[in-house]
Amino acid sequence: MSVLVVRGGRALRGSAVVPGDKSISHRALMLAALADGPTRIERLSGCRDVSRTRACLERLGVPIRRADTEAVEVRGLGPRGLSGPPVALDCGDSGTTMRLLAGLLAGQERTFTLRGGPGLCRRPMERVVGPLRTMGADVRTAAGRPPVSGRGGQLAGVTVDLELASAQVGSALLLAGLNARGVTVVRYPAPVRDHTERMLAHMGVDVQWSALETRLAGPVQRLAAPHGGVMAVPGDVSAAAFLLAAAAAVPGSEVEVAGLGLNPGRTGALEVLARMGARVEVRLSATVAGEPVGRVTVGADQLRSVDVAGSLVPRLVDELPLVAVLGSRAVGRTSVRGASELRVKESDRVAAMVEGLRRMGATITSRPDGFDVDGPCELRGARVSGWQDHRVVMALAVAGLAAEGETVVEDAERVADSFPGFVEALVSLGGQVTVRDEV
Ligand code: S3P
Repeated sequence: MSVLVVRGGRALRGSAVVPGDKSISHRALMLAALADGPTRIERLSGCRDVSRTRACLERLGVPIRRADTEAVEVRGLGPRGLSGPPVALDCGDSGTTMRLLAGLLAGQERTFTLRGGPGLCRRPMERVVGPLRTMGADVRTAAGRPPVSGRGGQLAGVTVDLELASAQVGSALLLAGLNARGVTVVRYPAPVRDHTERMLAHMGVDVQWSALETRLAGPVQRLAAPHGGVMAVPGDVSAAAFLLAAAAAVPGSEVEVAGLGLNPGRTGALEVLARMGARVEVRLSATVAGEPVGRVTVGADQLRSVDVAGSLVPRLVDELPLVAVLGSRAVGRTSVRGASELRVKESDRVAAMVEGLRRMGATITSRPDGFDVDGPCELRGARVSGWQDHRVVMALAVAGLAAEGETVVEDAERVADSFPGFVEALVSLGGQVTVRDEV
């Protein structure tokens, strides 16, 4: 195991670079695999989860090669080109890989099994597989969990009213809908990231969507990235959030990240930082492959508490561990509600953050669907578990930067699941963080 050793108290200053967006990278690889002809994907995330999606697509026969230092090239096989002999795919611990591939493969003439690592095998899959069955898919789970197996084939477009505001589930249904006869309609209870919709439109697919509903007419005959088949992935705002939250939490800090994807379904954390009193400046500069892109600067100030609930939750679902950390620095009671999804992410993130922050001296209480933090608390260094969860490891490292003394965060190797370069980025900003191997 390796650990992060973090020394707190030193301000973070400067500009940092983050990888290409993880959510968009998964989708870029999958949709490029269904395109007619080659797609050049620039700034594809090199994180472990996206590498899983790439390896699965290669096992399905999709040629993917590094084009140059900036890009990979995917030779698309067409919307039904992933048909073939039976295949077993290893999704590692990547939930997005498994859920999106379940939808993609439901529409391909092929018998398949999607397996996961120990972390993923605890996570719910019926939320995707149940709606896919209503489209006529022959697909099943093992008592609701991985492996997911089935045989793809003839599907029919249906209308699905999702109980959960989940982009993963909606995207899986749209990927299946590409090969379904008739219109697939996905209705969400609250707005979610619409990367799949934007990318499909960018590739010429007839898709219409509003905040709460997407309609896709199938079967789709052709997908193609315009502009000579180039798809550029913006920087990952969820990765940047860890650096920007650190800037808000450590006095005297100011951090800037440029080239960030600023999809409105992903910017909830920036809004929460501003509501908490951090100095937040957002400058939109371009639209890249249908996604808004810009530069964000965050500076520290005295933070005040915030309530997070309702339709804000899906817009910062991956950043909620950071709200726990920021709450411990803020004056008053910060509360998060309506976020029971946190319990079934890569770990139970409510339990993980409550355990870690309590060890560091915070006053935090778990709730079935969130947590309360009473601040401000004097955080002090401690040894804490990362719960084998990249975002818990990084959030506790941010707490360590704001704490007095030395914090040791276990499970440092998990950081590469989403943000290879996290430690280097913090160090470049002046953070005192090292990685130590332990036997
Ligand atoms: C993702 C959607 C979110 C998020 C996950 C990535 C995506 O999950 O937590 O990290 O790429 O669509 P849900 O859709 O299940 O909320």
